[in-house]
Amino acid sequence: MDLLTVACVLGVSAAVALLLKLRARLQLSKAKHPSLRGHSRMARRVARLVPFYEYDETRLFGSDGAPAEIAGHRREGFLRLAALYGARFAETARLTAEAETSISDAQFTDTYRVPFQYTRFVRRHLKSGTFLAASRGVTVTDLDGNVFHDLTGSYGVNVFGYDFYKECMRAGAARVEDLGPVLGSYHPVVAANVRRLRQISGLDEVSFHMSGTEAVMQAVRLARYHTRRSHLVRFCGAYHGWWGDVQPGVGNPAPAHETYTLEEMDGDTLRVLRTRRDIACVLVNPLQALHPNANAPGDAALVDSSRSARFDRAAYTAWLRQLRDVCTERGIVLLFDEVFVGFRLAPGGAQEYFGVPADLVTYGKTLGGGLPVGVLCGRKQLMKRFRDDRPADICFARGTFNSHPAVMGAMHEFLERIEQPAIRALYANLDEVWDGRARQLNERLETEGLPVRVANLSSIWTVCYTRPSRYNWMLQYYLRAEGLALSWVGTGRLIFSLNYTGADFAAVAEKFVAAARTMQQDGFWWSDGTLTNQAIKRRILHEMVLVHLGRWTASRPAGHAPARSARPA
Ligand SMILES: Cc1ncc(COP(=O)(O)O)c(C=O)c1O
Repeated sequence: MDLLTVACVLGVSAAVALLLKLRARLQLSKAKHPSLRGHSRMARRVARLVPFYEYDETRLFGSDGAPAEIAGHRREGFLRLAALYGARFAETARLTAEAETSISDAQFTDTYRVPFQYTRFVRRHLKSGTFLAASRGVTVTDLDGNVFHDLTGSYGVNVFGYDFYKECMRAGAARVEDLGPVLGSYHPVVAANVRRLRQISGLDEVSFHMSGTEAVMQAVRLARYHTRRSHLVRFCGAYHGWWGDVQPGVGNPAPAHETYTLEEMDGDTLRVLRTRRDIACVLVNPLQALHPNANAPGDAALVDSSRSARFDRAAYTAWLRQLRDVCTERGIVLLFDEVFVGFRLAPGGAQEYFGVPADLVTYGKTLGGGLPVGVLCGRKQLMKRFRDDRPADICFARGTFNSHPAVMGAMHEFLERIEQPAIRALYANLDEVWDGRARQLNERLETEGLPVRVANLSSIWTVCYTRPSRYNWMLQYYLRAEGLALSWVGTGRLIFSLNYTGADFAAVAEKFVAAARTMQQDGFWWSDGTLTNQAIKRRILHEMVLVHLGRWTASRPAGHAPARSARPA
């Protein structure tokens, strides 16, 4: 072969390689969700550009362009609510104010309850309080003695009712009392727990960790170790804990270079899985079935009424089957992250509920019987942390408090108790019960002409809004005034424990409707019919541009008082 031929062959090979690379890149781009959520790096850049500004009292109640009369009406309603909060939650608010300045987590959650333009004013007047004194049945009690129906679900931990977990904690502590704080060796309950977890998961081995985040970290590390591939695939919007690799977008200051965030329930994603050779594992959070590709819904992002959710079991099952097939075909590890939904949808978790087996499954939250835990179950060949033929090539994972006797004791009680007929009975017609309750509430809301609906995945609910509005986030405060306890994400996530009886639920529905009715009467859902979600977003964008240009105060709508507190940070 002469030199020219060699050069030609090399040139053609390089061109082909380049084309293949370009095609792979293009395929990857097509498999990203078109939203900012689907583009982590860009989302982080955009987030950095969002300037702080806030509404003064006048603008705050007319930020949707409502006439002064409506804004005044809203203001009166708000101040009535503030007076009620001041009187009813005094001690809880006092201790919160005192302690919060030194608890960074509480500062964060309290700041991100509502869109930032309203937050300081709302925090000043509607002091929610982060302290509680007691829990019983389906209720929690604050420091002022107010009893609330609990819809926080303790971040999803509370599946069977707080008393159930108190029993697990008490009996578990008694069971391991003799061993006490000894670590490194196992209390015998560990062996029993492993036995049960293997049955429940249908998988061979188990590892114990301190949190769901850690269990996911370990799962991904093992998948990378055994496949010798670099990348994990997570789906747009899905939460898998706060470890950097599974949280590549806003919230994590460092880029996650070995994470692909792809669109869920999408053919292009399957194509990427079928063709790329660097994918070690795919992470599925089955909670996303309620709102595929959307972030966990929080009221801080509730700037308009575009939040939407709808669970389609058949469609999600079909998607998981397709994922299962492509992962099997390509040797990709399929991980179900059941930290949230495990034990809530079915005794055997999402694998049983959707009828699709995974290679690795993470559990957490409720499994600790009220104590902190993360658990990974997996197929034998994936769980192994060393290679028989390469003794120095190990996959390290330890943790001082893993398998702590207190946690293992409470877990043991949990795993025993969920076998009891009373608990088994709760699962019998779970979907009918919770879908029926959601339907019932929606019918009431519709009959009353209230622009609110709920959507649910079994006992996990989210609130959606049918009329474009900038004030939907106010509903969380009306709900609290009626005696419903919500987590810091507000109406984005309502979590019921399965021990809610029909009567308990009827009381919640009553309170829910009453809250929405008062909010409607106070004018927060006023609309002249021209406001759209798009128009709201445009207005906010316009405000931000004005802040950047230093012309924010000049932008007041005619007839409004000066925006005294407009202070870009
Ligand atoms: C699906 C999922 N994975 C992982 C985690 C992280 O668990 P933890 O908060 O125990 O670290 C969570 C927490 O909400 C979760 O919902």
